[in-house]
Amino acid sequence: MRVLGIETSCDETGVAVYDTAPGAGLLAHAVYSQIALHAEYGGVVPELASRDHVRKLLPLVRQTLAEAGLAPADLDGVAYTAGPGLVGALLVGAGTARALAWALDVPAVAVHHMEGHLLAPLMEDNPPAPPFVALLVSGGHTQLVAVEAIGRYRLLGETLDDAAGEAFDKTAKLMGLPYPGGPQLAALAERGTPGAFRFARPMTDRPGLDFSFSGLKTQVLLAWQQSDQSEQTRADIARGFEDAVVDTLAIKCGRALDAAGSDTLVIAGGVGANKRLRARLQEMCARRGGRACFPRPSLCTDNGAMIAFAGALRLEAGQHEDTSVRVTPRWDM
Ligand code: KG4
Ligand code: ZN
Repeated sequence: MRVLGIETSCDETGVAVYDTAPGAGLLAHAVYSQIALHAEYGGVVPELASRDHVRKLLPLVRQTLAEAGLAPADLDGVAYTAGPGLVGALLVGAGTARALAWALDVPAVAVHHMEGHLLAPLMEDNPPAPPFVALLVSGGHTQLVAVEAIGRYRLLGETLDDAAGEAFDKTAKLMGLPYPGGPQLAALAERGTPGAFRFARPMTDRPGLDFSFSGLKTQVLLAWQQSDQSEQTRADIARGFEDAVVDTLAIKCGRALDAAGSDTLVIAGGVGANKRLRARLQEMCARRGGRACFPRPSLCTDNGAMIAFAGALRLEAGQHEDTSVRVTPRWDM
C-alpha cells in the first residue's frame, strides 16, 4: 500500500509517500519550512501560515511524487494531519487531502499529529515494538506515554505549562536570539561552559511524571538581566538552560520506564533533534540495559513522512473516513 502523507499543522508543509511493501518504506519526503516568512514577526502568524500552505502544498505533492517515481494513480490512500494545530493551516491540508483522495477514488485517513511523531521512530531500521515508553517533546507538547500497542496509549505525565520546545524558543527569544530559537539556543550551548550557570531541575524533587518549564524561563531571564550580557555569557546561560532541561527530561524518563516496567524508550518530536538530549537518553538507557530509539533528526521535526506512515498503519487496519472535511485544533491523543 502506497500512502501519500500531508502535514500542514503549523509552519512546515510536509509531503511524503510511504510504501508498506516489504523492503520499500519511505519512497520520498519533502518539507518546505516557512521560517523565513515568520522570522520578522518573531513567531508563527497563523493567517500567513495558512496562505503559504495553499501556495506550497500542491507543488510539493508533485515534487514528492516525481521523486518517488510515481503517478497520482499509483497511490492507494491519502493521510493528513487533522489536529492538533492551527485551524486554518490544518484545513489547507485536510481539504487538499480529501480532494485528492476523492479524485483518485482512494480512502483518506485523518492522523493525530502527535501519533505521527510518536510512530516516526518505527520507520527506522531495527524499530522498537510495543510495549514501550515514549517521550514526546515538541513545540506544543511534552508528554510521557505508555505505548501498549499501536493505537493504545496511556498518558503517564505531561507539562503543566510550557512544552519543552516552547521553553527553548521563549528562552532563546528573551536572550535576543531570532525565531525559531530552539535550535539556535542548542547551537549556542555548544560553546557554553558547563556548570557556569546552574538552573533548577523543575519538579524532580518530588514523585510524579509531570513537567513544568515556565519557571526555568524566568530563572534564565533574571540571570541574563543581571549578567554582563556578553556573547560568552549568553552561551554559558544557554548551556545551563539546556543541561537543566535535558537532566529534567532524563530523570522523568527513568521514572516512567520504572513505572511502566519497560526498558525501551522512544523519543519523538522536534526537541528529539537536540544532540545533548539524544546522547544523555542513549547513555541512560544503555546503563539500564535497555535502549533509546530516535528517528533521524529530519523526522523529529514536523514532516509528512510520519503522517504517511501513521496513516498507512491505520489504512492497513481498515480505518478511514467519510468525505467530510473535519479538523480538530485541540485534540487529545
Ligand atoms: O515537532 P516540532 O517540529 O513541531 C511541533 O509539533 O511543535 O517541534 C518544534 C520544536 C520547536 O520548539 C523547536 O525549537 C524545537 O522543536 N527544536 C529543538 C531543536 N530542534 C527543534 N529544541 C532543542 N534543540 C534542538 N536541536
Ligand atoms: Zn510537531
